[in-house]
Amino acid sequence: MANVWSANVSFSNGELHLSGISATALAKEFGTPTFFLDEEDFRTRATAWGSALKSSFGANAGNVYYAGKAFLCVEVARWVAQCGIGLDVCTGGELAVAKAAKFPVERIEFHGNNKSVAEINEAVRLGVGMIVADSLFEIDRIASAAKAQGKKQRILLRLTPGIEAHTHESIATAHEDVKFGFSIASGSAWNAVLAVRKHPEIELRGFHSHIGSQILSMDAFGTAADRLIAFLARYRDEFKTELPELDLGGGYGISYLESDEPLLPEIVLPSLHKVVQEACIRHNFGMPKISIEPGRAIVGPTMFTLYEIGTTKKVVLESGATRSYLSVDGGMSDNIRTSLYGAEYTAVIANRKPTASTTSSRVVGKHCETGDIVISDIALSADCVPGDLLAIPATGAYGRSMASNYNHVPRPPVVAIANAKARVIVRRETEADLLGLDV
Ligand code: LLP
Repeated sequence: MANVWSANVSFSNGELHLSGISATALAKEFGTPTFFLDEEDFRTRATAWGSALKSSFGANAGNVYYAGKAFLCVEVARWVAQCGIGLDVCTGGELAVAKAAKFPVERIEFHGNNKSVAEINEAVRLGVGMIVADSLFEIDRIASAAKAQGKKQRILLRLTPGIEAHTHESIATAHEDVKFGFSIASGSAWNAVLAVRKHPEIELRGFHSHIGSQILSMDAFGTAADRLIAFLARYRDEFKTELPELDLGGGYGISYLESDEPLLPEIVLPSLHKVVQEACIRHNFGMPKISIEPGRAIVGPTMFTLYEIGTTKKVVLESGATRSYLSVDGGMSDNIRTSLYGAEYTAVIANRKPTASTTSSRVVGKHCETGDIVISDIALSADCVPGDLLAIPATGAYGRSMASNYNHVPRPPVVAIANAKARVIVRRETEADLLGLDV
């Protein structure tokens, strides 16, 4: 049974506490819905991925780049910098956050499958350590930007190794029929290599692949490493020089439910080292520097969402059974993952010990949409009433970062808690914010 809560969550008399502060006190001070972030747990996880890469790969350890798309704000970017790891940004907006946090530029890696000329110019101007090129257009844009600015830019080429990772279709990224990367099998990856070599302003450092997200088994990482190292060996054979780097992306799965066994860095990275080493032996290639890009595995488990139940309803199903509908004060605008990917979450009543036996329940939001479901089916105490607080663990990744203003619902704040002190790091949106864009 895996733990779905962050390190400093505890329960006393049935009430949830984070770093000793009760859910009732948190809701009173910050309102609901709110994302509560366990700062110490975030720092521990970010540091653990960095240390595990170093201890597993030694001199061949590249960078751990925290994938900011999972959740990014200025304060979190500062923590990432302090933990000594790098940052993966994939838009000009994420790059602007890194800039505002004064993130060390040499530790920034710039991703994306459609980086504009302006975004690339800015990345080159700032001096980001690495750009991951995803198309021939981008290769030309990077070369032009570097030439105009009198710089040489380090890049990786994002490759598609043709792998069906076992995860939801929308978050698998390395099979052939996707928008990302240059396909190895079709020859487009090789054409990209030839294109890059025409540009003296570009330093090709190696290759990248990201096979997908919320992956709970290591097999697919081994296959990807093997195909990328075979490609590095082909490059060496053709050009008599070895490229020094490989970035194997993110995707390490976490526990949303107690039955999900997470991929923990101290277990996963030695096993990644083993598969990379075996592939190097197979292809007679010296071990390159290995980088990785965990997003979810760092931030996902560190937040829970606290909602207040506003209304409840009993629905009689065709089978004659009943289902209890619990409507919370957020929903698909702060957690789109259930309706988008069929993601599964668990929840607890956070403000008190439940007194009734459990009943089949559905946690839904306040949006005008039937699909506005946060948890499709969960056994919760039959005594839930309006005013009860409901906490959903493991919402740190792709929750707030994918939040929307659907139905003009303001996006929730993020409150960081460390050493029994809570502070807002992203404030709650207001109706004035929502109206502020209307011209
Ligand atoms: N590197 C690259 C190039 C990526 O595209 C991604 C995620 C990551 C790293 C980080 O993956 P992670 O370690 O967080 O799984 N919205 C979806 C996930 C989309 C992931 C997009 N790329 C979800 O909520 O599950």
